[in-house]
Amino acid sequence: MEIKNICCIGAGYVGGPTMSVIAQKCPEINVTVVDLNEKRIAAWNDEDVENIPIYEPGLSDVVAEARGRNLFFSTDVDEAIDKADMIFISVNTPTKTYGIGKGMAADLKWIELCARQIARVATSDKIVVEKSTLPVRTAAALSDILHNTGNGVKYHILSNPEFLAEGTAVEDLHAPDRVLIGGDYTTEEGSKALQALVDVYAHWVPKENILTTNVWSSELSKLTANAFLAQRVSSINSLSELCEASGADVAEVARAIGKDSRIGPKFLQSSVGFGGSCFQKDILNLVYIAKSFGLNEVADYWEQVIIMNDHQKRRFAANIVKTLYNTVSGKKIAMLGWAFKKDTNDTRESAAIYVADYLLNERAEIVVYDPKVTEEQIYADLDYLGTRSEEENRNLVTVVNSPYEAIEDAHATAILTEWDEFKKLDWDKVFESMLKPAFLFDGRRLLERNEMEEKGFKFYSIGN
Ligand code: UDX
Ligand code: UDX
Repeated sequence: MEIKNICCIGAGYVGGPTMSVIAQKCPEINVTVVDLNEKRIAAWNDEDVENIPIYEPGLSDVVAEARGRNLFFSTDVDEAIDKADMIFISVNTPTKTYGIGKGMAADLKWIELCARQIARVATSDKIVVEKSTLPVRTAAALSDILHNTGNGVKYHILSNPEFLAEGTAVEDLHAPDRVLIGGDYTTEEGSKALQALVDVYAHWVPKENILTTNVWSSELSKLTANAFLAQRVSSINSLSELCEASGADVAEVARAIGKDSRIGPKFLQSSVGFGGSCFQKDILNLVYIAKSFGLNEVADYWEQVIIMNDHQKRRFAANIVKTLYNTVSGKKIAMLGWAFKKDTNDTRESAAIYVADYLLNERAEIVVYDPKVTEEQIYADLDYLGTRSEEENRNLVTVVNSPYEAIEDAHATAILTEWDEFKKLDWDKVFESMLKPAFLFDGRRLLERNEMEEKGFKFYSIGN
């Protein structure tokens, strides 16, 4: 089966970069990315390729190469679905905020809407690929909807979870550790559908890095991979607290254990807490699934990863209050960074949001600088928590365009995102313009303790 037209529903952090790279590497395949959000599509089509809605190093070059040639962004969902041989579903699947499974289960509302739309529109056989992270066995529901509401055309469902990390999405897509494709390899037609997607990736990914499994294994592997990664961060973060209590240094511990090739050096960077659209959501999902099978010990085991992460964010904020003589009311606190990690403008579940919320509850005045996140997004993140009125958020939080503006006359500066430019700040100048004593809280272990203390800062770094 040769794929000539691909459609992707959802032009977000996953759909946008993934389809751009597929189009770049497969010039003979037409790739159309559709989205309900007209503003987002308009931004993807902006004449100036630097204005695409997602900030990812290297992405604008990929888009510039393929857009208009075989890469298209559109709001005409029906037309793109009908033309496509293969349809990727890459819409968001947030944690449910209502009803059964509230706060745990994935909200599959959007996925179901996509399935119904595909079923309504399609007039020829389609391969439907789950790109969004989904709970195990979603494919069965998808298949049910497609086959029972459709126009009698045939569907093959594949699971192809995305492992790209934001900030390195283009690199990760160009040279993935592995591509995972789940499908029904027990039937001839199922195998053909699987092979069709393998052939797309084989344009640039070595065959031995393309793994095929059954659909359920693929769906569960995505949740598991994120749970294992997040678990490492929570493990090292749990030790950061012990290091602070005992005088060990968490970076030294991480280096020492990471040298053991069985443990490995990656994902051992202690921080103010992991964020991003996936880790928390996927673990909550895993916990929910385990519980629904009655596996309470399994559920409790993984839930600890989230509990530790929440604790780390609260602990960082509480330490700021404690250090500033137990009161931050009316004090100006500069926050450097709002994104959940460097090199992305994504703020979903960013630790910065929760630290800010904690400090705002203590009536602090917060000034935020982030090189890529907009003022609009920062207010939206705070409003979303629903802790205080929109008016209060705007009164207490100011967003500025330069780090030096943020720190001017601040009682404390806190680093929440490890942007490279923060390393290169003129820290003598920062010290000069802050109120004294000048407190500096490094939530990312970006700075050297000795250097900062020499400059005169009262310095706090996670895990010493
Ligand atoms: C992805 C995955 O799809 C999600 O499962 C994973 O866990 C996190 O990453 P992401 O691309 O980051 O989601 O989400 P987002 O940037 O919100 O993009 C989703 C897009 O789908 C949005 O632009 C939204 O407008 C669009 N959408 C949503 C539709 O076009 N149709 C819908 O019915 C729902
Ligand atoms: C993650 C997975 O890495 C990716 O494979 C999956 O497809 C989506 O989820 P992402 O959320 O984009 O990717 O970023 P990641 O680099 O995994 O970082 C997640 C969070 O963990 C960030 O807040 C990061 O700062 C934090 N982190 C990561 C640490 O605090 N310490 C570390 O050592 C590594």
